[in-house]
Amino acid sequence: MSRLFDPFQIGELRLANRILIAPMCQYSADEGSATDWHFIHLGHLALSGAAMLIVEATAVSPEARITPTDLGLYSDANEAALARVLNAVRAHSPIKLAMQLAHAGRKASSRAPWEGGKQIALGEPGSWRAVAPSAVPHIDGEDPPAALDAAGLQKIRDDFAKRAERLGLDALEIHAAHGYLLHQFLSPIANKRGDQYGGSLENRMRFPLEIFDIVRATFPAAKPVWARISATDWVPGGWDIEGTLALSQALKSRGCAAIHVSSGGVSPQQKIPVGPGYQVPFAQRVKAEVGLPTIAVGLITDPEQAEAIVANGEADAVSLARAMLYDPRWPWHAAARLGARVEAPHQYWRSQPREFKDLFENAQFGAR
Ligand SMILES: Cc1cc2nc3c(=O)[nH]c(=O)nc-3n(C[C@H](O)[C@H](O)[C@H](O)COP(=O)(O)O)c2cc1C
Repeated sequence: MSRLFDPFQIGELRLANRILIAPMCQYSADEGSATDWHFIHLGHLALSGAAMLIVEATAVSPEARITPTDLGLYSDANEAALARVLNAVRAHSPIKLAMQLAHAGRKASSRAPWEGGKQIALGEPGSWRAVAPSAVPHIDGEDPPAALDAAGLQKIRDDFAKRAERLGLDALEIHAAHGYLLHQFLSPIANKRGDQYGGSLENRMRFPLEIFDIVRATFPAAKPVWARISATDWVPGGWDIEGTLALSQALKSRGCAAIHVSSGGVSPQQKIPVGPGYQVPFAQRVKAEVGLPTIAVGLITDPEQAEAIVANGEADAVSLARAMLYDPRWPWHAAARLGARVEAPHQYWRSQPREFKDLFENAQFGAR
């Protein structure tokens, strides 16, 4: 019996298996609004057999976007465009839908990766002044962000509180990883504040925890909210696993349903020992020492590898990003390899291979 294909209960949400599709920015929105690209992209991922699709980092305000073409949820037009895509997914797939709520902080005003990914300098078309805990740029020589004052912090609190509950999502993920705004508050590399939001670990955790409380309070109580965090900056003197354990504990006491454990992103000085499952040991520590459900991510590409992570109790679930783009039927193929079953759209039932006669749940074919 495959453990990867066991149901996964997060709070009151039941997932059909333990495969999640990690959030993936598409840099393909129009003034923050989802486009036909999102229709195609999320539509085809929704037919994958994964239990949950986490919609890409979705900016809570225009200035919260990484690039000018990031997805956003800050206007009526944004909300309507996303509703159209999500309703279509719901009509044709049982996949559960989460969204990653995000603020880029000092990594805002960037070009898309395929345009080089660099900062769009102030004054250039499409640029804007980023905001951050401190006026420290991500890379030396870049335009520095504006340090957030009390009014700026309040605007961000208000921005996070809006809209997401109206989309009928099954869950929300707060993006506190990869060097974006909330991670910038956590990391001493980006946070040089002298007020109650900087300095000690407790102070650096304060704003991310405030945002968690706001999102938790504005989203239906029966639906889970969790955080994606970078377990370490991979830089000496940066954010580390001890901070991650303390933050996870604090999030747990506030009703956080899970931790999605990633790493890195706050500093170009990072030295990451990239390899298969390289972030899984962090998920394992959070699970063992904090006792929250964990989602492991990062170079999980092989069904037996994913099965072992769950079966050994290293994490409760896995999320896949690049492997899902490369092979959008990864969960089907994993189920076939592991002797499990998966839900497929009835329009595709006839594709079930002869050697896997029991792969698709409820599949039946008839003809005259
Ligand atoms: C195209 C692409 C876009 C991504 N966008 C996001 C994002 O919006 N939010 C996020 O937290 N991580 C993002 N990531 C990181 C992935 O979610 C994931 O953590 C990372 O790719 C490692 O997992 P993998 O080895 O399965 O790809 C992105 C990765 C890719 C490849």
